[in-house]
Amino acid sequence: MSLKLRINGEDRTVVSDPETPLLYVLRDELKLKGSKLGCGLEQCGACAVLVDGKVEMSCVSPVATFEGRDIVTVEGLAATETGQRVQAAFVEANAAQCGYCTAGLVVAVSSLLSENETPDRAAAKAALDPHLCRCGAHPRVLRAVEIASGQA
Ligand code: FES
Ligand code: FES
Repeated sequence: MSLKLRINGEDRTVVSDPETPLLYVLRDELKLKGSKLGCGLEQCGACAVLVDGKVEMSCVSPVATFEGRDIVTVEGLAATETGQRVQAAFVEANAAQCGYCTAGLVVAVSSLLSENETPDRAAAKAALDPHLCRCGAHPRVLRAVEIASGQA
């Protein structure tokens, strides 16, 4: 089935089973490999993307449910001022170890800063809560939030 998606500001047409989770279409059909498959159960955050400006997991919901919505992946964030600032802050804070969770966290932090330019520690923790990091990088991610928001 042919589906029209708006991804990173571009209209894309994909041919896919409409029940395929969005993440597989992003990675396998559109070759946008930034979003990762972790749990596949909407419980770890590795697959997070922005949908109409809000963080959503992409590993379960069928691709057909995303037609007509504005999807931004971590690749698309790299073209935005906020995304660049967040990525630079992650580098400065050394906020990635294996990096598997990092794309989802960059998406979450970028979304947070879009809504709240100077989040306090509690707001940052709340935004990061759905994102698991097996390497224990969360303290450094919180430091990255402080750097990206000019509070370091
Ligand atoms: S892979 Fe989607 S939340 Fe874990
Ligand atoms: S840096 Fe390895 S899972 Fe987060």
